[in-house]
Amino acid sequence: MSFRSVFVAIVLAFALILSAFLINRQRPKVETSQPTADFVKASGKCAECHARLQYSVVHEYEMSAHAKKGVNCLDCHQPAKGQQSQDHHGFVISTHLTSGNCRGCHEDVYKEFEHSRHAAPSWAAIYGEKGLTPEQVSFSEQFQPGGTKRPPHPFVTAEGGSAMVSGCEQCHAIGKPNDDGTIGRCTDCHSRHTSSVALARRPSTCAQCHMGPDHSQIEIYDESKHGVMFQAQENLLNLNAEPKSLTTRDMFVPTCATCHMSGLNGLKVTHDPSERLGYYLADAVTTKRPDSLRAQANMKQVCSQCHTEKLIERVYTQGDAVVVSTNAKVQHAKEIMDGLRKDGVLTGKPFSNPIDFVYFDLWHYDGRTSKHGAFMGGADFVQWHGNYPMLQKTVELEKMAADLRRDHGRK
Ligand code: HEC
Ligand code: HEC
Ligand code: HEC
Ligand code: HEC
Ligand code: HEC
Ligand code: HEC
Ligand code: HEC
Ligand code: HEC
Repeated sequence: MSFRSVFVAIVLAFALILSAFLINRQRPKVETSQPTADFVKASGKCAECHARLQYSVVHEYEMSAHAKKGVNCLDCHQPAKGQQSQDHHGFVISTHLTSGNCRGCHEDVYKEFEHSRHAAPSWAAIYGEKGLTPEQVSFSEQFQPGGTKRPPHPFVTAEGGSAMVSGCEQCHAIGKPNDDGTIGRCTDCHSRHTSSVALARRPSTCAQCHMGPDHSQIEIYDESKHGVMFQAQENLLNLNAEPKSLTTRDMFVPTCATCHMSGLNGLKVTHDPSERLGYYLADAVTTKRPDSLRAQANMKQVCSQCHTEKLIERVYTQGDAVVVSTNAKVQHAKEIMDGLRKDGVLTGKPFSNPIDFVYFDLWHYDGRTSKHGAFMGGADFVQWHGNYPMLQKTVELEKMAADLRRDHGRK
């Protein structure tokens, strides 16, 4: 080989290395900082286009725990079992992602979630058993008796389809049955691409749905000492702490997630909030859950990471008393309503007479609010948004019932 050709070969090789280096520098960070072949092949390619199309998606992903652990775009976007696929620029991706795209790597979490009221019961609260398979219904009924085996809500027909889709479903689709046979969405709390526990621990994340007069948890929390302390000291908390080793050093003020889901100081993390709830507070007349003693013990164990037993027992004793007195008030109103129906004074479909709404608001707004307020530190909600309007509506209801009976007598 001549000197010339060796020289040309060396120059060419050097130029190639240099240009490879320069090109590499231009490539998205995900592609260069993650060495695995799969990663470069999948993420690099997806990110190359999508950084130009939706930079925010790629950026959120880059900062996520998934990117750090080498989980790539295709790991989530490839069709999971039972999903429809589409060709996409040399890849095969799913047309629609569900919890089915997460469960492959987070099966234990999915199982817990599936036991919870965030799963099938949440959907059945609107549509009843419709859309759920018989297997899904009987599976969920084991954990949430009466949660799925029920008729559709009367508002489905009274208010119509668009109100259901843009209203109820936006919150209750957290447990929507998916075409691939799975249930629900994980991204309501974690978002699609940040996959963040910090986000899930923030009260405002739960407040996307847990708000308003019929489930005023965020309003109650905001006025509670816990909420006030969170506002004041949020920047001192470690919202990003690893769930399995979360301590009261990281979270010395509780958020919704801390009480209902987190594994504080070695307690078990759960995706089934029912594990810590003793009552059915959302019901008109509240009853105890099947496993209420154990569930309340679980919740008290969370409180006891920060409080003494005396304080905790005080809250529960006072809460129990509010449940008993609210039940009595709702029961009284219910008997008036049942009497009107029984005597033929009130006829027709549900929600066809003004008195139906007074009764509904009495338990669904005011009764619930007083019970939730009592357990979560909302004095104003127990009183001015709870017991006071209950008293007012009881008077109104009694008057309306008497008028209806009088008019009925004249017929
Ligand atoms: C050659 C460029 C290119 C590559 C490579 C690419 N995409 Fe896309 N992708 C697009 C374009 C263009 C669209 C349509 C976007 C729009 O409407 O703004 C799109 C749309 C999408 C959508 C929305 C689909 C829908 O129907 O709503 C998803 C999800 C997606 N891409 C994921 C990926 C994933 C995951 C990869 C890698 C496995 C990938 N893309 C690779 C260009 C690309
Ligand atoms: C942790 C799983 C996960 C990873 C990793 C992931 N995605 Fe997604 N992505 C989702 C989910 C879930 C959706 C919502 C899809 C749906 O509604 O069907 C989504 C939606 C999208 C969309 C549509 C966004 C919109 O709002 O219209 C694009 C584009 C996309 N992803 C691209 C990417 C790219 C590019 C990567 C890698 C840089 C990536 N994704 C990584 C889970 C993921
Ligand atoms: C290919 C496997 C894989 C898929 C698919 C996947 N994950 Fe992950 N996920 C992981 C790994 C690995 C970790 C890091 C675990 C660890 O550090 O212990 C993780 C961590 C997480 C975390 C904790 C993040 C943190 O900051 O600690 C959340 C939340 C999460 N994933 C949600 C999701 C959701 C939601 C989906 C579906 C949209 C999903 N994952 C899909 C593998 C996956
Ligand atoms: C803003 C979000 C949101 C909207 C909109 C919404 N809900 Fe709910 N719903 C919730 C939350 C959160 C709860 C849990 C209340 C609790 O446990 O205190 C709930 C509880 C319920 C319950 C009682 C629990 C059960 O399983 O029996 C029923 C029934 C219900 N919703 C039906 C509906 C119907 C029907 C609509 C539409 C007419 C609707 N919801 C609209 C968030 C919402
Ligand atoms: C996308 C809407 C949505 C988000 C976000 C959401 N929830 Fe819910 N949640 C619901 C609905 C709907 C129900 C009522 C389910 C039923 O009983 O029908 C519910 C019920 C509950 C219950 C009562 C469970 C039971 O066994 O009765 C608790 C506790 C709860 N959620 C806590 C949380 C916490 C904590 C967060 C935030 C980390 C959160 N939720 C985020 C919609 C949501
Ligand atoms: C109601 C809100 C909510 C929903 C829905 C939800 N998560 Fe979570 N998730 C959380 C919270 C809150 C935490 C953090 C608990 C804590 O404080 O340690 C968490 C933690 C996690 C973790 C880390 C757990 C660990 O032990 O390291 C993973 C992984 C995860 N979620 C995946 C999922 C998957 C997969 C789904 C769907 C099947 C899902 N999540 C649905 C709220 C939610
Ligand atoms: C200090 C702990 C704590 C915090 C913080 C907290 N909760 Fe609660 N929550 C409780 C207790 C205790 C109960 C009643 C337990 C029982 O029934 O035995 C309860 C009840 C509930 C219920 C009623 C479920 C039913 O039976 O209908 C929902 C829903 C709920 N909480 C959601 C939330 C949301 C959303 C937040 C944040 C905005 C929040 N909680 C903040 C402790 C807490
Ligand atoms: C992560 C720690 C933490 C957890 C868990 C926790 N709290 Fe608190 N709690 C606090 C802090 C901090 C304050 C504010 C104390 C102060 O005023 O200095 C507080 C204040 C209170 C107060 C007001 C103080 C008073 O004397 O009236 C009550 C009541 C209360 N908590 C009840 C509970 C109950 C019930 C639970 C469980 C369902 C619970 N807390 C769980 C940290 C916690």
